[in-house]
Amino acid sequence: MSEFKPAKWPRKLRSTEWFGGTSRDHIYHRSWMKNQGLPADLFDGRPVIGICNTWSQLTPCNAHLRDLAERVAHGIYEAGGLPLEFPVFSAGESSLRPTAMMYRNLAAMDVEEALRANPLDGVVLLAGCDKTTPALLMGASSVDIPSIVVSGGPMLNGWFRGERVGSGTALWQMSEEIKAGTMSRDDFLEAEQAMSRSSGSCNTMGTASTMASMAEALGMALSGNAAIPAVDSRRRVMAHLTGRRIVQMVKDDLKPSDILTRQAFENAIRVNGAIGGSTNAVIHLLAIAGRVGVDLTLDDWDALGQDIATIVNLMPSGKYLMEEFFYAGGLPVVMRMLGEGGKLHKDAISVSGQPIWDEVKDVRNWNEDVIRPVDRALTAKGGIAVLRGNLAPKGAVLKPSASTPHLLQHRGRAVVFEGIEDYKARINDENLDIDENCVMVLKYCGPRGYPGMAEVGNMGLPPKVLRKGIKDMVRISDARMSGTAYGTVVLHTSPEAAMGGPLAVVRDGDMIELDVENRRLHLDISDDELAARLADWSIPEAAPQSGYIKLFHDHVQGADTGADFDFLRGCRGAAVPKDSH
Ligand code: FES
Repeated sequence: MSEFKPAKWPRKLRSTEWFGGTSRDHIYHRSWMKNQGLPADLFDGRPVIGICNTWSQLTPCNAHLRDLAERVAHGIYEAGGLPLEFPVFSAGESSLRPTAMMYRNLAAMDVEEALRANPLDGVVLLAGCDKTTPALLMGASSVDIPSIVVSGGPMLNGWFRGERVGSGTALWQMSEEIKAGTMSRDDFLEAEQAMSRSSGSCNTMGTASTMASMAEALGMALSGNAAIPAVDSRRRVMAHLTGRRIVQMVKDDLKPSDILTRQAFENAIRVNGAIGGSTNAVIHLLAIAGRVGVDLTLDDWDALGQDIATIVNLMPSGKYLMEEFFYAGGLPVVMRMLGEGGKLHKDAISVSGQPIWDEVKDVRNWNEDVIRPVDRALTAKGGIAVLRGNLAPKGAVLKPSASTPHLLQHRGRAVVFEGIEDYKARINDENLDIDENCVMVLKYCGPRGYPGMAEVGNMGLPPKVLRKGIKDMVRISDARMSGTAYGTVVLHTSPEAAMGGPLAVVRDGDMIELDVENRRLHLDISDDELAARLADWSIPEAAPQSGYIKLFHDHVQGADTGADFDFLRGCRGAAVPKDSH
């Protein structure tokens, strides 16, 4: 049983090393701070709380976070702390190239160093867009000072001509309709504004909503945080309450290492199955676990998620959007239902300092079509399927709830794309030798190969297949897929092609077998043939020679362990290595 014993208060805090004395250096630290108009009694030994903000106008999903930061600050002041807001690298999904994922580890490094180097006793992590939540959690976990997440919240529902328009999901659907000739370009342009009608992150159960849910399920955010729409006044209340709470967490010395236990990760994996969460959560949770030293593996995802029913009826797996999830009761309802079914470690503690069960046990479900009873689940076996075989010795993942049931067992002829540019150059070619029974294979899109592991695994289908009314084919790659996307898509194939994995040597015409029930992904060639091809293989592109991209290339690890940098795994604590003061 998890048990947390609060520390005694008052006691000397970390920030007093900077502010709590009369030496030249103490005066130096305080005096410069006072140029912001801070009264002297704010340096009396009270908790100094960082508000770590991923606000950026280049990250539109987080563009409202300065307003929320003010609400957090109100709460911190009210509880007797000193709030100090600071910016960190903001990895915005919609605009960053080559892909925001290439910058998750950079942002995590920024957060870690900012927390350790500054006079902070605790931190509120303001996140929203996909990578910002895991980056902040990774950085904070490596420093291990009291930390709490408040999410920016999802956008309001999109509506277009009477239909819900889900962020991302509608974009993929409409672009396929354009290719199939069933939607006009003018209609597509008109739908553009309808997709994004308020502040906030994607309104589907995409990666942003999934990671906000993961933060809550892990116990790193206040209960109910994940689903409140960005523009709902209750989002501001949540920020305010989070500000109050972090001050008490510092007094109690309640740290990420107290909360992010093996039990917490197991809860999160099961919650991910129940919400039909993004495959990206696999990578991010493995990376966070690596920071806190919890031995989490890909196989845990399969074992723990296998018998979890997907009960949240949200796009891309279902019908509704985050706004309706909030009105139905949000994540606390899902956690209550998991607990009642014996699928939750009820005594895992959260930022509240109390068992997580205490927060959720009495909540009601206000809409049983949005959060379904288990006997009317969207998918009886949700979760993430982890596939293995000679094509993925270290594993690959697939999301059954987003797949087409009859394709979950499939044997087909490989049509191989040697990279994303090759795919783009040939996919619309009417002479491409492909039909709906083929298996599309995309190489060199993994963490090292792309670089950054772009969300291109859900390759659009060829127009000549789409025109037949076919909406799904088996696709295999070492890439990721947007949490808003769908299809029978095998992702994160490891080792990736650029690290010499078997994916690199698949050829046009090879037969591939996918058997999700038996968790098998098999390239139907002999062991000798596979070994000979691998012996002949060499990396097609030269490694980058300078800049961050070189650091990334040289140190990123495989998707099967979270794609963190090798030198960033683990918790390095809050002690400043060499203090010049
Ligand atoms: Fe930012 Fe989806 S693009 S949350």
